[in-house]
Amino acid sequence: MKVTLITGASSGIGEAFARRLASKKHNLVLVARNEKKLAALCDELMLEHEIMAHYVAIDLIDYQADLRLFKETENHGMEVEWLINNAGIGSMGDFADLDLEGELEMIGLNVMSLVALTHRYIQRMRANKSGTIINVSSTASFQPLPYMSTYAATKAFVSSFSEAIAEENRELGIRVLNLCPGSTETNFHAAAGIKEPVRIKGSQTSEQVVTAALDGLAAGRTAKISGISNWVIAKAATFAPNWMVTRAVASQLRPAAMKKALENSGTEKEKKTMSKGAGGSGS
Ligand SMILES: NC(=O)c1ccc[n+]([C@@H]2O[C@H](COP(=O)([O-])OP(=O)(O)OC[C@H]3O[C@@H](n4cnc5c(N)ncnc54)[C@H](OP(=O)(O)O)[C@@H]3O)[C@@H](O)[C@H]2O)c1
Repeated sequence: MKVTLITGASSGIGEAFARRLASKKHNLVLVARNEKKLAALCDELMLEHEIMAHYVAIDLIDYQADLRLFKETENHGMEVEWLINNAGIGSMGDFADLDLEGELEMIGLNVMSLVALTHRYIQRMRANKSGTIINVSSTASFQPLPYMSTYAATKAFVSSFSEAIAEENRELGIRVLNLCPGSTETNFHAAAGIKEPVRIKGSQTSEQVVTAALDGLAAGRTAKISGISNWVIAKAATFAPNWMVTRAVASQLRPAAMKKALENSGTEKEKKTMSKGAGGSGS
């Protein structure tokens, strides 16, 4: 049976993909850790749309989780025709103060798991000369982001990797889309411990992001930034030098305690400069 496998399908953008594609009669394999949510969503979608919906409750960071998931779909005779690598987490704060294990787990989920699942499922797609892969990146991929440094770097990887394999597979019947949402109303910020979501003007809904992705695919695109204001901001950031962008971002995202400490040390520096300057003009 041909199926669409969606990681991170228990909430947010992944759940919106599941709902939209169920309405288009895709059979689904929904993946995340929260078994209760996945089971309820599968029941609802099967009843409403008369499709097959299967779930796999798994922590994708776990050792060989990708292999277990792959075996599960193989053992059930499922042919993953669409793969949506959407599961992802973020973190925010001064890198030196962030929990190292958490940062490495983020790389494990956002990067390693995405690469592993892509590699496993692309083999059959190649053999069938047919398949669709959507990798969920972010507008954070377009520039280094101080205080979200590891997260932005994982998404830079996702964008680069996705667009490279899109070209490798362009003439082999496989579509690969690098999907870049901007700020979207989901659990993402709360899960990342971000109290004040980084709201650049015009937060989107998950449904808008899914529409953008499907429009991008239909137009034969390999990359899609969701939302016009996100597009403008992302493009503008690529024109400015990185030092200018990182400085502007840092002044917005720097933790309050750190801002205060820097302001104080700034005052000290200014005091010294002023006293030097005053001495010079007097001589
Ligand atoms: N929201 C935004 O502003 C925004 C902007 C740009 C890009 N994105 C990207 O969009 C994607 C989806 O995020 P979202 O905004 O929809 O956030 P979300 O609502 O928090 O969804 C994240 C999904 O990932 C799953 N997940 C987290 N850790 C997992 C793990 N270790 N193993 C398996 N599944 C895991 C979560 O389910 P369980 O907790 O049940 O495991 C959940 O289904 C992410 O890749 C994110 O980077 C989000």
